[in-house]
Amino acid sequence: MSGKIPREFIDDLLVRVDIVDLIDSHVPLKKTGANYVARCPFHTEKSPSFSVNRNKQFFHCFGCGVSGNAISFLMNYSHLDFVEAVEDLAAFIGVDVPRESVEYSGQQKSADLRSLYKVMEQVAVFYVEQLRTNSEGRQAAEYLKHRGVSTSVARDYMLGYAPKKWQVLIDQFGEQALLDAGLLGKSDTGDTYARFRGRVIFPIRDKRGRTIGFGGRVLDDSLPKYLNSPETPLFHKGREVYGLYELLQKQPKPQRILIVEGYMDVVALAEFGFYSAVATLGTATSQAHIDLLFRFASELVFCFDGDNAGQKAADRAMEQAFSSLRDGRQVRVMLLPQSHDPDSLVREIGVDGFVKSIESSETLSDYFFRSVAKGLNLSEMEGRAQLVNTAKPFLDKLPDGVFKGMMYARLEEMSRVASINVSGGVKANLTSNQKMTRATGRPSSARVAMALLLQNPRLAGVVEQKEIDLSRLEFPGVELFKALLETIQDKKPANVAVLLELYRGAAEEKTIKALASLELLVPVEGVEAEFCGAVESLLVRAREAELDRLEAKAKNEGLNPQEKERWLSLLTIKRCSTK
Ligand code: CTP
Ligand code: MN
Repeated sequence: MSGKIPREFIDDLLVRVDIVDLIDSHVPLKKTGANYVARCPFHTEKSPSFSVNRNKQFFHCFGCGVSGNAISFLMNYSHLDFVEAVEDLAAFIGVDVPRESVEYSGQQKSADLRSLYKVMEQVAVFYVEQLRTNSEGRQAAEYLKHRGVSTSVARDYMLGYAPKKWQVLIDQFGEQALLDAGLLGKSDTGDTYARFRGRVIFPIRDKRGRTIGFGGRVLDDSLPKYLNSPETPLFHKGREVYGLYELLQKQPKPQRILIVEGYMDVVALAEFGFYSAVATLGTATSQAHIDLLFRFASELVFCFDGDNAGQKAADRAMEQAFSSLRDGRQVRVMLLPQSHDPDSLVREIGVDGFVKSIESSETLSDYFFRSVAKGLNLSEMEGRAQLVNTAKPFLDKLPDGVFKGMMYARLEEMSRVASINVSGGVKANLTSNQKMTRATGRPSSARVAMALLLQNPRLAGVVEQKEIDLSRLEFPGVELFKALLETIQDKKPANVAVLLELYRGAAEEKTIKALASLELLVPVEGVEAEFCGAVESLLVRAREAELDRLEAKAKNEGLNPQEKERWLSLLTIKRCSTK
């Protein structure tokens, strides 16, 4: 399906669906006060800290910090991407998802995605058939057998063979379709050639089982050993992994997923009944890979060669993982013995031995501190300072939560620094909401004003009605406050969920979500007064700051007539309000 989903449809959906009904249909909820609660489906816990609010159309877990609207819930809970979540939500209330018609660029004209998927599927079937049909194919089948791949695993992974001659393919699908699918390439001279020739084929399927690309291996020692599909409208190797569909077929709810480097590693492990491995496609592990896999399992194991290149790859993967490591998620780093890959290792030590070595592999925290401390002398202050400097940028990337707090505690212990501040100056082991309320025990006026506005978009109307002049407001975050106000006045979101949707993927998303989950305990009838009170106290503070500045200037260099006038009017306002 192509074409964008119209924004208005998404907004409408978020108004028509009730998040309480939606979540309740997946995770039974209990009503307590204004909220509905349950044990959080996104992390393991004994007492419920997952809360759903009908007014805000918003869920939030005080334990692991996950939060969002109905679309976010489906993305997290059902492992969907954005479009899939919108489709599911539409299905939940029984409507179809409309698409804006798009104008295709010349090149894409014939490449309607649906027909591309079909070509890929049929080509995959063609490749499978080739394994049986002629002497060339039988040689490939022999190669697989020689590498210890059984027919049943070959069937599970739909392994095939791309023959040296490819005219049949062109006869069947036509040149353009094969070019679009990335199966034909064009040489410098403009001639077309088949990308995969005389290679064992590993079809790459997306999580729904649609073939989106291919990998191909030679049968001998010639180079290049592997070839992969190029980027096509269907295939983006930075976002896809090999073997996920096959894994989910065997284990819909895997506990852990192992990330390995090679196609043959995935297949060999499956041969031993170990179906929890996926492979990156000849690229470094990306954050998109990690996010994709964390949608299915709470533990990821990075499995790399024990050599230098492997360690570098592990370091890179670890860096990518930091910002995805919210509480309840875990990463391990498994470095293999020299000159082994998972394929050769499992054949040598068997699957039980292999699982044991996963279980005894290093946790990310151990691996991380070992790798940042490498080469540093921690008995010297300089070494410890260096440790803090190297480690801190990584720890700052961790989402707020218990794990982040523990990582900081460990860094403090290793560096013997009593207290290391997270960027922004607030201690790490507090959630964002705790942070906001920590200093005074209750949130600041600025937080209250922003959170109330976000949670009650209608307050933007109050600001307009009462003609409150916010131009002179000054406090950290005032830009966001004004932007929020403008957004609400401009887009008129029908509820909080619609408003939140506008910030999906934006730089402010995290702050906005934290504000949305702030529990203010203001009764409905008090919302407007509380908001106006908070804004007024912010205005008073801004006037006082301005007055101080003018008085200082009057003393030092004197005021110009306009400034004098402003000073007098500020003084008058102050006298009137303190009388
Ligand atoms: N790879 C690639 N292009 C190459 C070599 C490797 O894309 N020229 C990718 C493939 O995804 C391959 C992975 O890197 O599966 C690992 O490559 P390598 O370690 O060289 O091969 P093995 O997986 O051990 O393959 P085999 O056991 O078949 O030799
Ligand atoms: Mn290998």
